[in-house]
Amino acid sequence: MGMFGSFLVGFLVLAVLAKAQDQSGFISIDCGVPADVNYTESATGIDYISDANFITTGVSHGTPFISSIEIRTLKNDTYVTQSGSLQSYRRCDLGTDTTDKAYRYKYDDYDRFWDVCDFNQDWISVVNESITADSLGQNHFKPPAVVMRTAVTPANASAPLIISWDPEDENDQFYVYFHFTEIQVLAANQTREFNIMFNDILWYKESPRYLFVYTIYGKSAFSGKKFKFSLEMTKNSTLPPIISAIEIYKVIDFQQLNTFQGDVDAITSIKSVYEVTRDWQGDPCGPAAYLWHGLDCSYPVNDFPRITTLNLSSSGLSGKIDPSITKLTMLEKLDLSNNKLNDEVPDFLSQLQHLKILNLENNNLSGSTPSSLIEKSKKGSLLLSVGQNPYLCESGQCNQKKNNNIVTPLVASISGILILLVVVAILWWTLKRRKSREEDGSLPPPRKQYPYSDVLKSTNNFNTIIGKGGFGTVYLGYIGDTPVAVKMLSSTSVRGYQQFQAEVKLLMRVHHKNLTSLIGYCNEETNKGLLYEYMPNGNLQEHLSGKHSKSKLLSWEDRLRIALDAASGLEYLQNGCKPSIIHRDVKSTNILLNEHFQAKLSDFGLSKIIPTDGGFHVSTVVAGTFGYLDPHYSISNRLTEKSDVYSFGVVLLEIITNQPVISRTQDKGHISERVNSWIEKGNIKGIVDSRLEGSFDIHSAWKAVEIAMACVSLIPNERPMMSVIVVELKEALALARTYGRGVDPRYSVEPVSVNLDTAFMPLASLA
Ligand SMILES: *[C@@H]1O[C@H](CO)[C@@H](O)[C@H](O)[C@H]1NC(C)=O
Ligand SMILES: *[C@@H]1O[C@H](CO)[C@@H](O)[C@H](O)[C@H]1NC(C)=O
Ligand SMILES: *[C@@H]1O[C@H](CO)[C@@H](O)[C@H](O)[C@H]1NC(C)=O
Ligand SMILES: *[C@@H]1O[C@H](CO)[C@@H](O)[C@H](O)[C@H]1NC(C)=O
Ligand SMILES: *[C@@H]1O[C@H](CO)[C@@H](O)[C@H](O)[C@H]1NC(C)=O
Ligand SMILES: *[C@@H]1O[C@H](CO)[C@@H](O)[C@H](O)[C@H]1NC(C)=O
Ligand SMILES: *[C@@H]1O[C@H](CO)[C@@H](O)[C@H](O)[C@H]1NC(C)=O
Ligand SMILES: *[C@@H]1O[C@H](CO)[C@@H](O)[C@H](O)[C@H]1NC(C)=O
Repeated sequence: MGMFGSFLVGFLVLAVLAKAQDQSGFISIDCGVPADVNYTESATGIDYISDANFITTGVSHGTPFISSIEIRTLKNDTYVTQSGSLQSYRRCDLGTDTTDKAYRYKYDDYDRFWDVCDFNQDWISVVNESITADSLGQNHFKPPAVVMRTAVTPANASAPLIISWDPEDENDQFYVYFHFTEIQVLAANQTREFNIMFNDILWYKESPRYLFVYTIYGKSAFSGKKFKFSLEMTKNSTLPPIISAIEIYKVIDFQQLNTFQGDVDAITSIKSVYEVTRDWQGDPCGPAAYLWHGLDCSYPVNDFPRITTLNLSSSGLSGKIDPSITKLTMLEKLDLSNNKLNDEVPDFLSQLQHLKILNLENNNLSGSTPSSLIEKSKKGSLLLSVGQNPYLCESGQCNQKKNNNIVTPLVASISGILILLVVVAILWWTLKRRKSREEDGSLPPPRKQYPYSDVLKSTNNFNTIIGKGGFGTVYLGYIGDTPVAVKMLSSTSVRGYQQFQAEVKLLMRVHHKNLTSLIGYCNEETNKGLLYEYMPNGNLQEHLSGKHSKSKLLSWEDRLRIALDAASGLEYLQNGCKPSIIHRDVKSTNILLNEHFQAKLSDFGLSKIIPTDGGFHVSTVVAGTFGYLDPHYSISNRLTEKSDVYSFGVVLLEIITNQPVISRTQDKGHISERVNSWIEKGNIKGIVDSRLEGSFDIHSAWKAVEIAMACVSLIPNERPMMSVIVVELKEALALARTYGRGVDPRYSVEPVSVNLDTAFMPLASLA
């Protein structure tokens, strides 16, 4: 019954959703006078919350019908699942000031029912009646103000606040949304800070801000034999934990998946080519009871449904047989009989490997039936019907074909030989040309290679040094009026002429806004140099340490933006380049800043040009820099993409703390060890660069620290992928941007999201 109810509502919702989205508010359809109203709440969590009012004309008899339906759309990023749908399990208004009814619309814009829940715990309510919807800084979950102004804390202030439940089935998965806000004005000597533990493992540290709604949730579902969240005040907290509301959703997997996308594309194209006007709406194969008329589908376990039959018999089709049909690769039966299809029977139908029945009877097809189809039919793998096509003849039996029968092979063989000769000639000529070009060493875009004399002129005889690195010295030069950075490589170390040329040509193809672009190069005997775009604001290290002439104190937001830029560049090298490029020397001096303080990674790919096995160069310079170098490298002797992730983590720690990577004066020498010990003390203020004087968003800072600590994990597999790091840094940046705008409490705070993946649980793994 419940299933039927939600299914019904779901259907109605689909039908009116398009309309609902046109209008900005909600849609309300009303038909009939409600006699006995019975509210049913549908499963929420997709992109709507709906409410249907059912009327029954008596308790035991009569057909229920819907009298009205109201739909209020949610933002589609509010309750997002990795898979499956969400069924409301519990939605609790904790410490509520109402006892008899649940708050819903119009208190709640989305018409959620906020119930009174009993978790069997010794709690006391805290209420601040003067909190109104206007005074609350909302996030996009929008828990109503009447719900948020009430909260619970443990009766015994030093005891944890426990929310637990037992699932009916141990495979049940849940999504949990905790809504917090501080509802009391805290005195200067008061702090409220608590750890949220899931099954006794630290999950998140929370310190709600006055009148700001924070929603904490896991991006992936929680699973386990028991579900116990306990909120425990930290040592430093003077106040017990507090929580205003909690939502618990159970993951429901509707077994039915959507039809395989390739099939959907093909059938959609067929639908438009033949202007099919049947009930072809929604998903072709699903739900199975309502698949498109004329289709049959297979429903493999754990895989997408596939179209196996297309029956467009007697459908008034005209024109050619549409090539999209071949994209229905699992097709077993194709019936196009009794239509007005014309033109030839296309050969492509034989590409359908699984086709068993092909019925083209009673059309106006012409030409000859492709021999490939006839062969299949003779072998018995295909049941082919092509009768009642007056202009169609079986292969080899057509009149015109018969006449040509003798001539064709002759013509074919002569033209075959001619074509072969031409092809050979062209090939030979091309090879010869290419060879001669390789010999004189010219390059396709000749402007990219600069003679040494030009390099001398452009740098005014290497007049201005702007940097010195392991790979050589960098000079300021000009090409026309454009400043360039000219990196002259230490002559003895560079690979031979050919390899250098090849590698540089490869690197010139790498383009990304967060990588310094290579403009050209010089390759004359021992004089080898690279011309890069000039980055007027020097490197990140100079700005962190205040050594750059134009350096300013980088704000927390600036820092995260720079980190995100660098991460994006690195992500591109790993995922945007084929084969991917391992930087091998990610460090703060290799992150350069342009006039807008946009960060770009430099020196990528150089380790390929300057080999490590030359024996001449100091190996630490080439294979990485002490402190930034992946400690796993010393064991495996192999640098991988995860080695770059480690180095990036070290840079991120530098950005956060502005501490030296290696300290000779402290016993915890490496920056990650020092940060680790602060994390154990739970002290974010001690971690972040003290020059910021605490002006940063704490949630954002914790997030950045978590990312960095995951990167510097000693086990390469535990380090996150660069793509994940980019996403997480974006979230941290979004949080950072809300900081300081808290003066206006109506400003919407982004919810804090927590990734449950083990890679992102450094706090827990340290505990
Ligand atoms: C809905 O209707 C059913 C059957 O008539 C009844 O048992 C149930 O109590 C009703 N629910 C509400 C909320 O009125
Ligand atoms: C939400 O909708 C927007 C626009 O329709 C789309 O770009 C975005 O990917 C959607 N997000 C999710 C999580 O589905
Ligand atoms: C309060 O909780 C603490 C910690 O759980 C416990 O040690 C203490 O006995 C409790 N006090 C009372 C009065 O229950
Ligand atoms: C309750 O909220 C009001 C207005 O937001 C605030 O002025 C007052 O201090 C709060 N009460 C307590 C006990 O913190
Ligand atoms: C905080 O300060 C107030 C006076 O401003 C004092 O009465 C109170 O005891 C202090 N509380 C703590 C926990 O130190
Ligand atoms: C296609 O549908 C027609 C009737 O609509 C039916 O007679 C015919 O057998 C079907 N073809 C196949 C291959 O099932
Ligand atoms: C059938 O096809 C033939 C040749 O392709 C054409 O001449 C004829 O007009 C077509 N008949 C109809 C009814 O379309
Ligand atoms: C505890 O809080 C006080 C005052 O809020 C602060 O000075 C101190 O550094 C904090 N200690 C820790 C370990 O967080």
